[in-house]
Amino acid sequence: MPDDEQTRRSSLNPVTDEDIPNAEVSPMSSETLPATSITPTTAAAPVAARAAEIASDASAPNVVFDVRDLNVFYGAFKAVRDVNLSVHKHEITAFIGPSGCGKSTVLRCFDRMNDLIESARVEGQVLYHGVDLYDPRIDPVEVRKRIGMVFQKPNPFPKSIYDNIAFGPKISGSKENLDDVVEKALRQAALWDEVKDRLKKSAMGLSGGQQQRLCIARAIAVEPEVILMDEPCSALDPIATARIEDLMQELKSEYTILIVTHNMQQAARVSDRTAFFTTEVNPESDTRTGMLVEFDSTNTIFSAPSDERTENYVTGRFG
Ligand SMILES: Nc1ncnc2c1ncn2[C@@H]1O[C@H](COP(=O)(O)OP(=O)(O)OP(=O)(O)O)[C@@H](O)[C@H]1O
Ligand SMILES: [Mg+2]
Repeated sequence: MPDDEQTRRSSLNPVTDEDIPNAEVSPMSSETLPATSITPTTAAAPVAARAAEIASDASAPNVVFDVRDLNVFYGAFKAVRDVNLSVHKHEITAFIGPSGCGKSTVLRCFDRMNDLIESARVEGQVLYHGVDLYDPRIDPVEVRKRIGMVFQKPNPFPKSIYDNIAFGPKISGSKENLDDVVEKALRQAALWDEVKDRLKKSAMGLSGGQQQRLCIARAIAVEPEVILMDEPCSALDPIATARIEDLMQELKSEYTILIVTHNMQQAARVSDRTAFFTTEVNPESDTRTGMLVEFDSTNTIFSAPSDERTENYVTGRFG
């Protein structure tokens, strides 16, 4: 592993409880944090048997995220409750479930994007290599450098292809040669051959599938450890979708990937583990709260789920 890579990864190493006060995840004083309605909690709330199993598994060094008793509110509305799951290094973890069950809400907790929604409030813990991302000492900007996001609709900047990729490394003060960074990211995103002769042309002139690969290249140019993808193929045709799926398989040797998808075949094809969410009605308020029903290996979720609701969903009887 090159030295700089070693340095970058070493600051992401799992830390023990004693390490947390001196953790290298840029502890920040609460004065330096932007105003936020996030409520960090250190309370170890009770977890169900399966969650306990997952939590014990989470001591393994290949666990990147360990989510414990996560609840997310928008104002007084509890959007999603009791999420317990772990995300493993160099795996693809899929979130599936009907519209409104909280997949995007939960995904946004992994890079503190919910901080940007004024009414959002998070309870519970999202441990990243053992460090709670919602600890008040953690700088959300630092979090987002390590955990990149690709959105449903490709959103290139109205700039050249080159500048889209170079933007992140430039502002983060990368010492590497920008031409090399751009080429490497575009190669990793399987886009280089299609754009190498038009790097200075506008990114807006690319096809939708190319734009989405550009957004993936832009996310990986800043060398994150994790890539979050919220329905990255929903605006793409089957051929572009297949390319992104192949790309995800290639990228997982270097990155850890979380993907929200409505396409169950896609989850079954690409992911190693799957979390199935659903909604339950709150009769008194006539609102619906999302909840995690089952989290397991993708094989188990699709071939032998333990919950009837999962089975109904994956066999198309519901949703
Ligand atoms: N910014 C917000 N403000 C208030 N409520 C929100 C906000 N974003 C989401 N919600 C609510 O939270 C719940 C979960 O929404 P979320 O977008 O996470 O669901 P989802 O599973 O991603 O759905 P979809 O499959 O349609 O994308 C829904 O009831 C939604 O209306
Ligand atoms: Mg969504």
